[in-house]
Amino acid sequence: MRHLMSPMDFSVEELDKLLSLAMDIEKNPKKYAHACDGKKLATCFYEPSTRTRLSFEAAMLNLGGSVLGFSSADSSSAAKGESVSDTIRVISCYADICAMRHPKEGAPLVASLKSTIPVINAGDGGHQHPTQTLTDLLTIRSLKGHLGDLTIGLCGDLKFGRTVHSLIHALIRYPNIRFLLISPEELRVPSYIREDVLDKNNIPYKEVERLEDAMADLDILYMTRVQKERFFNEEDYVRMKDFYILDKAKMALAKQDMLVLHPLPRVNEISVEVDDDPRAAYFKQAQYGVYVRMALILTLLEVEVC
Ligand code: CP
Repeated sequence: MRHLMSPMDFSVEELDKLLSLAMDIEKNPKKYAHACDGKKLATCFYEPSTRTRLSFEAAMLNLGGSVLGFSSADSSSAAKGESVSDTIRVISCYADICAMRHPKEGAPLVASLKSTIPVINAGDGGHQHPTQTLTDLLTIRSLKGHLGDLTIGLCGDLKFGRTVHSLIHALIRYPNIRFLLISPEELRVPSYIREDVLDKNNIPYKEVERLEDAMADLDILYMTRVQKERFFNEEDYVRMKDFYILDKAKMALAKQDMLVLHPLPRVNEISVEVDDDPRAAYFKQAQYGVYVRMALILTLLEVEVC
């Protein structure tokens, strides 16, 4: 039995296979409509979510399965003090696979150690968000045609943004990847990622503060929101929240085939005037999240569709 805690849990070959499966699902949805008949997915979300929880649920329903779960800690027995370990032992009696989001780093990993069903990390604190990374990889591969030879700008809250941490881990395994890390000083990528991931693997990167200075070089611009829920005080959040706003004027500095991605939700960091730009791919990205989660459920449940 396999769990998914980090994008590194899959080899590059396994990721390629999973992304190819997701692309086939997009093209031939009917072929997969009964692949998970009789199977149940539990979504155990101790933190708010729109895309991740509902795309997981849509994915299982598209595969013919059923869903159950809770969408906040308050509506589960966590509110009475139940541990994640006890909860997953019980959920293992009710479902075939579980997607778990938790504000504490490592909570889904703790659950996986006691689980008798596959556990998927659907976001753990400021640590990792591997299924967002699968979504991002599928979006890039589908729209760009390849995952190597890219200059990628990661912009915004690079300190607390778990989608950024997971994406860096995943992309460094492809050839000729370069990063421009665009953030204010206080929200830089954590040093353990700079030193242990980027430096150690000789990945070219540059840290810059002004988005305007990076735009012309980018093949992908990955915008992120400032993670209000991870700040220790409101004052710091208010000071940082509108540091970057991508608008038409900044888009005019970019290549004609650059893609703008964002894991969403967006707050102010992308002006709505950018939504109609053909390079804005963030809503398409949310759609890819369903196909890739369908592929992941099939893979972890070891369901083959001929
Ligand atoms: N991208 C993402 O994780 O969105 P949600 O928080 O809405 O799930």
